[in-house]
Amino acid sequence: MTERTVVLVKPDGFAKKVVGQVIDRFERAGLNVVALKMVRLTPKLLDVWYVHHKDKPFFLSLVADMMATPVVAMVLEGEGAIQIVFDICGPTDPAQAPAGTIRKDFGESKPKNVVHRSDSAEAAEKEIGLLFKPEELFLGESRGF
Ligand code: PPS
Repeated sequence: MTERTVVLVKPDGFAKKVVGQVIDRFERAGLNVVALKMVRLTPKLLDVWYVHHKDKPFFLSLVADMMATPVVAMVLEGEGAIQIVFDICGPTDPAQAPAGTIRKDFGESKPKNVVHRSDSAEAAEKEIGLLFKPEELFLGESRGF
C-alpha cells in the first residue's frame, strides 16, 4: 500500500549538518520526497503535535528543544513507507538503535535523536495537516517518469 509519512530533521540534526545524509537514506530506500521545507515550530503547533506527551515530565524540554533552530520537514511517500522509515530511523533511544540507522549513526540521546517520524498513518495525516498546505504536497509526481 502506498503510504505517506512525515519526517522532521530536529534541531540537533540540523546543527550536526546531516540534513542531506538523512534525506539520502530515504531516497536510497526508494521513497519519494513529496514535500520539503524548513520551518520554525511554535509552542501552539507543538502543543497539538505532542498532545499525547503533554503529561510526560519531559514535555516542556521537548518543546524547547524542537524550537531551538528551524527544522527540516518532509513528507515521504512509497509502498510501506511508514515501516521503511521506522527501520531507517531506528528506535527513539540511539543507545537501543542498530548500527546503520540514523539515530545510531548521528544521535546521542533520546531528546537528541536527530529525527522525528510519524508513529502511524493517522499520525502522519495529522502532522501533514499541521505543517503543510495542500499545494505544498506533490503526491505521485514521480510515478511513471
Ligand atoms: S514515551 O514516553 O515512550 O512515549 O516517549 P518516547 O517515545 O521515548 O519519546 C517521545 C518523544 O519525546 C522525545 N523525548 C524527549 N525529549 C526531551 N527530553 C527527554 N528526556 C525526552 N525523552 C524523549 C523523543 O525524542 C520523542 O520525540 P519524537 O519527536 O516523537 O521523536
